[in-house]
Order: sequence, then structure tokens, then C-alpha cells
Amino acid sequence: MANERRALRIDVLTLFPEVFGPFLASSILGIAERKALVSYHVHDIRDYSPDKHHKVDDRPYGGGPGMVMRCEPVFRCYEAVREMDRRPGRLILLTPQGRTFNQALARELSRCDRLILLCGHYEGFDERIQAGLPAEEISIGDYVLSGGEAAAMAVIDATVRLVPGVLGHEESAQSDSFENGLLEYPQYTRPPEFRGMKVPDVLLSGDHQAIEDWRREEARKRTESRRADLLERPRPPTETEDG
Ligand code: ADE
Repeated sequence: MANERRALRIDVLTLFPEVFGPFLASSILGIAERKALVSYHVHDIRDYSPDKHHKVDDRPYGGGPGMVMRCEPVFRCYEAVREMDRRPGRLILLTPQGRTFNQALARELSRCDRLILLCGHYEGFDERIQAGLPAEEISIGDYVLSGGEAAAMAVIDATVRLVPGVLGHEESAQSDSFENGLLEYPQYTRPPEFRGMKVPDVLLSGDHQAIEDWRREEARKRTESRRADLLERPRPPTETEDG
């Protein structure tokens, strides 16, 4: 049962805490927190700078463009945040050099009891941050953002909606794109005809078996035409198969 497990605690370490407020309070993420299934804790790395000007970045040794995030504020922030809860959690560093995020990883993270997300900025982190912290690096795709905040939001969103009890309809996540190794089938709602475009008859037929067959076939066709690479991958286990 959803409520038997403790809420997933998510800590975010960032230089821009203000960007997370409305995002975490809206829609599914807000509902998840109001249902006490998750809790969000956003921390400003700048508060942990030992420097009187709260400096968090510096010029790279060896020269080159841009600034690099300094070790001290990041280590101090992580160490303080880690102690805010008994659960050690899983520390994730958002960087374009990390393992690519996907639905299987979102499901894995949704089973954790605590996540600590560290967002980088500037040209990157001092390498000793990766070397000295027990962090795994995650990228949300092969492009460079100006900071890890948008990446952290993507990871939080994809993860929290999979926490048991968050979506009213547990089936709803199961039929999502990627959950069964396929893209999602097409969906329609009223009216039955809009500007000459009709809802397929089978969806209005009331024949549940025919609807299910049609959806499976549409999902397969769509996957084949748009993302044939997904059909070559091993099928992800279903909830019942992997417990
Ligand atoms: N920070 C900058 N670019 C990123 C990306 N693609 N994924 C995760 N964090 C990032």
C-alpha cells in the first residue's frame, strides 16, 4: 500500500533556489507533496560559501573561458544537507557528462527513500567534487543547458509521478510511453468529430477487447515509424515481473 512507505525525500542543492518554488507546488508534484508521498527541500549552495562575498565560482586553473564551481561551498552544503535526515539517500549530480536519464532510471529512483540532486552552473564543477563526493552523474540528453536546474526538474517530475499513490490511476503510468518499451497509443476525447477529423470508430464501439487490440497495434506502428530503436531493445520488465 502506498501509505505504508515513508515519503520520498528530495533535496535539491542549487545556486537558484527560487526557480523551484512554483514548479514543485504545481500539478502532480504539488499533489504528491500534499498527499505526503514526497517532500521537497531546496537549499542554496551560496549559503554554504565560507567567503564573505558568498563566492561560489572561480577562474579555471590553466586558463580558458568561463568560471568553475568551487569545491568548498558544494562540499559544505552537501555535508550539512546529508545530516538533515538519517537516510543517506542517493546523491545525483546533474551534468551533460553523466549517464543518460530514461524511464527505467526514473522508476529505479522512484523506489528510493531519499534523493539529493546537485545542480551545477557555470562551465562545470571542479573535478574534485565528482572525485570526492559519492555522487552518480546523470544527464538528461545530449545538449548543454546553462545549469542543472532544468535537468533536476525533469528528473524530479519523471520520478515523482511513478511513486506509488501519486497518480490517482496507477494504470495511467503503466500505459505511458516507454513503460512497456513502446510509445503511447493515440488518445482522443470529445467531440467525436472536430473540423472534419473523426475519432476512430473502434473507440466509440464499447468493445473493450477490440479497443485494447487497436491500441496495442497503434502503439506498435507508432513506435516502428518514429522510434524503431526502441523495438530492438530488451523489453523492460512489467511491475508484476519485477515485483
Ligand atoms: N547541465 C547542463 N547540461 C545538462 C544536461 N544535458 N543534463 C544534465 N545536467 C546538465
